[in-house]
Amino acid sequence: MNKHQDKILVTQPTLPDLQQYQKLLQQIWDNKWLTNNGPFHQEFEKKLADYLGVPYVSLFSNGTIALMVALKALDIQGEVITTPYTFVATSHSLLWNNNTPVFADVDPVYGNLSPAAVEKHITDKTTAIMPVHVYGNPVDVAGFEQLAKKYNLKIIYDAAHAFGVQQKGKSILNYGDLSILSFHATKTFNTVEGGAIISHDLATKKQIDYLKNFGFENETSVVTLGINGKMNELIAAFGLLQLEHIDSDIAKRQKVADWYRKALSGIKGIRFLDDMPNVRHNYSYFPIFVEPEYPLTRDELYEKLKVNDIYGRRYFYPLVSEFPMYQNLPTATKENLPVAHRLAEQVICLPMYATLNENSIQRIIKLIS
Ligand SMILES: Cc1ncc(COP(=O)(O)O)c(C=O)c1O
Repeated sequence: MNKHQDKILVTQPTLPDLQQYQKLLQQIWDNKWLTNNGPFHQEFEKKLADYLGVPYVSLFSNGTIALMVALKALDIQGEVITTPYTFVATSHSLLWNNNTPVFADVDPVYGNLSPAAVEKHITDKTTAIMPVHVYGNPVDVAGFEQLAKKYNLKIIYDAAHAFGVQQKGKSILNYGDLSILSFHATKTFNTVEGGAIISHDLATKKQIDYLKNFGFENETSVVTLGINGKMNELIAAFGLLQLEHIDSDIAKRQKVADWYRKALSGIKGIRFLDDMPNVRHNYSYFPIFVEPEYPLTRDELYEKLKVNDIYGRRYFYPLVSEFPMYQNLPTATKENLPVAHRLAEQVICLPMYATLNENSIQRIIKLIS
């Protein structure tokens, strides 16, 4: 191992220009409005809605609180069918709201929750479905819409990975009842920590905005059991600047994905994901799946990369259904989730960020090939 090589981490955040940010901070210092729907918060909500092509955005301090509030806003009770192949916040939000997570299996290519698998788990206690656009790849929204209609269910999309993703020219966030976003530092679009709920009518947005501010409707009346999920002015100003370079970041990430795909295409036993037709992707992650024909196991390849200072991540291993608070649920078995288990055993997300250069990718590919 060459000790002088740079470490390559799975991701690296893009930051706003510091001088530009200082100018906005100066405005905050001058007007002394730090939180509670200040001018930057208002501007960021509007500009985000325009950028994303959605009717209403409610900003949050992070995506997890956004998920919890989304469930409250729709008054979801009982069983909610979701995926085990995700970050643990998806199902934690269900447990925090006293819902029962029901796990269904995923599709073998993209790892997204499968409508056919979901349908098998629908009972008279089912109230909602919570699919995740894993890695930012859209789930089968038409399939879930049909299920929702047929069984009268709500759909909350965990779109934490899907910032800016469009299908047939339309934002993927416009499907279902609500969608949530995460702007965590590791995401394609980041505000250090942050998140949002996308809603489709003003009454729902208002309800969400009360919920994220303790339930206050006005100075003196509390109309619902709220929490504190507000985004502050320092973060909203940061987010406004991040919006200015998101398109160029996504274009750079696309180039990284193209380099990877070209270099990996001849390697037996390494599977990667192609772009979906009619989808504008955001290239959040670059997962590869280490299949049995490859000479090393997934973990051997993962360790080999690591000792050479390449830090991939095994998203999503272990499956959420393996964690102690979920493993005794009736649907948390390997027999119920064979595809999710297989993908969790095969996946490595390779480093992916806008400034990853071709030399670094060659260094990574050399170790894989
Ligand atoms: C799929 C998914 N859902 C929810 C979250 C939670 O978002 P946050 O970290 O902003 O709370 C994340 C990421 O962190 C995620 O990857």
